[in-house]
Amino acid sequence: MKIKGVLKRVKKLDPLLKNFLKRNWSKYLLGILALIAVDSLQLVPPRLLGILVDKIKGLSINLNGIIVYLVGILLVAGGMFLCRFFWRYLIRGTAIRFAHHTRMELFKKLLELSQSFFDFTPSGDLMARFTNDVRALQMMTSSAVVMLTDALFLSIVTFTAMGYLVNWRLTLIACIPFPLLALVSLTFGKLIHERFMQVQERFSDLTRIAEETVSGIRVVKSCAIEDTMFGRFSNIAKANIRSNMNLVKIWGLLYPLFELIGGSGVVIALIIGGKMVIFGTITLGEFVTFNVYLGMLIWPMIAMGWVLNVIQRGRASLKRIRKILDEKSLVAEPESPKKVQIHGNIDIHNLTFAYPGNERIVLKNINMKIRKGWFVGITGKTGSGKSTLIKLLLKMYPAPNGTIFLEGVDINDIPEEHLRDFVSYVPQEPFLFSTTIKENILFSVEESFGEQVEEYAKLAQVHEDITGFPDGYDTVVGERGITLSGGQKQRVTLARGLIKPAPVVILDDCLSAVDVDTEQRIIDELKKMLGERTLIVITHRLKVLAKADIIYVFDDGKIVESGSHDQLVSKDGLYRRMYELQLKEEQVLEKSGD
Ligand SMILES: Nc1ncnc2c1ncn2[C@@H]1O[C@H](COP(=O)(O)OP(=O)(O)O)[C@@H](O)[C@H]1O
Ligand SMILES: [Mg+2]
Repeated sequence: MKIKGVLKRVKKLDPLLKNFLKRNWSKYLLGILALIAVDSLQLVPPRLLGILVDKIKGLSINLNGIIVYLVGILLVAGGMFLCRFFWRYLIRGTAIRFAHHTRMELFKKLLELSQSFFDFTPSGDLMARFTNDVRALQMMTSSAVVMLTDALFLSIVTFTAMGYLVNWRLTLIACIPFPLLALVSLTFGKLIHERFMQVQERFSDLTRIAEETVSGIRVVKSCAIEDTMFGRFSNIAKANIRSNMNLVKIWGLLYPLFELIGGSGVVIALIIGGKMVIFGTITLGEFVTFNVYLGMLIWPMIAMGWVLNVIQRGRASLKRIRKILDEKSLVAEPESPKKVQIHGNIDIHNLTFAYPGNERIVLKNINMKIRKGWFVGITGKTGSGKSTLIKLLLKMYPAPNGTIFLEGVDINDIPEEHLRDFVSYVPQEPFLFSTTIKENILFSVEESFGEQVEEYAKLAQVHEDITGFPDGYDTVVGERGITLSGGQKQRVTLARGLIKPAPVVILDDCLSAVDVDTEQRIIDELKKMLGERTLIVITHRLKVLAKADIIYVFDDGKIVESGSHDQLVSKDGLYRRMYELQLKEEQVLEKSGD
């Protein structure tokens, strides 16, 4: 019956933990045996020493006999040394590997999940999974196992010794308060953990605001908000003290409580055991032994509560990690995938779209026809849905069936990874990794493209900027390196996108921080180089689109106009109004002398 219950629980175990145990149970078993061996061997040397002392005192031993005993003690010590090494290696080592495995699984999942998942999950929350939750798992699979084994073994041995060597009835009665020790340790352990987390949170608040103030000191001073900042800091500092005091109070309560409960066991032992001595049921020596054993039981009981607490925390962390691992990508992989060769023929039919979990429609009845080798321009106000369309084309969000077709095949039938091989995409927000410029440009392609880095940097009009840096292409950017200007970041990001030889190239407003003429030069050169490849450019600067085969004008999620630059300028519509405005701005700039 009981075994069935245990089996049921094992079946319900998280697959992550179950698979891990399946592969590693033998290591755990050996580790636990080694641990028990250490615990038992520990008892041998004092006993040997005692016997030896008695024999020396009675003069019933010669030098050889003494050496035999000493060698025996040394051998036992050596055995303990080995067993200690083994349990550490087996139990802790295995737990470390489990934590590593969990982190890798989490990371793999992060790379798989679609964009929309990250819209809903705060990044701090995700980071906590990688750090706190994995640490809690490691505690559960290492320290808790060790403590549990130790505490169980010690309490069983001590308990048996008390009952066997002294008296079972006395043992049972004196141990009544002891489970209470475990309970107190469990509840307080939980409280301490909660308050400890609060302390850490308050502390990170404190560092965050200090950091903010230091890095934004110019804003603080120019806005004359020193008082406000001081007030904010002072409040958080007070909260920091309060949370620390809360923790200290509980620590202060804990030990007296342990002593009180342990002490009540001793009182019971004194009353009942004393009576037994008087009535001759046990000897005085037995009574003394009993009290020493009773004291030895306190620690394992406290440890038991601690272990339960660590296990509860580990299980909660496992649940949180499981939630991420079970997260389904909103963009489902096709049931019967079609790995079509993509050349750049794109058709969009009556596409209407709202973001998942959001009612507002951001694309309304979009129709487009793009052919291989075309230069397609897309323009329109901010928020009109241009980037959303591109994200659908890249399968970052799910498009409705029967709306987007590549080479005549529904995009939902094309596997995401396959699709990405055919598209190089430069996003609106430039992003550089904290490494060298060269590695940044080579990020999405093989090492063998190394020789082309300069060529593409030139195409992106950033080569001269780069050679001006102290280490040229080996200059490190980001936190630990130099800071690039917005325009430089955009152009390096562009070089990264362009170096990937894909039949479809999409630039999503990725040159906004670069001046118009440079943008125009880049696009003109790029168009020449791409030849028969399809180029889609999103931009606000209509001059850049002058040579486009077709331009789509977006407004409030709809395409309001389409045609070539000349056609659109000759119509009296949004495009012409935008164009005239931009011409006027340019004239003003020229007149202001530049
Ligand atoms: N992840 C998202 N979730 C919900 N709404 C979004 C998301 N991204 C963009 N939007 C909304 O969709 C609309 C179109 O945005 P976007 O396609 O980025 O416009 P554009 O690129 O033309 O400036 C905007 O109203 C924007 O607020
Ligand atoms: Mg956009």
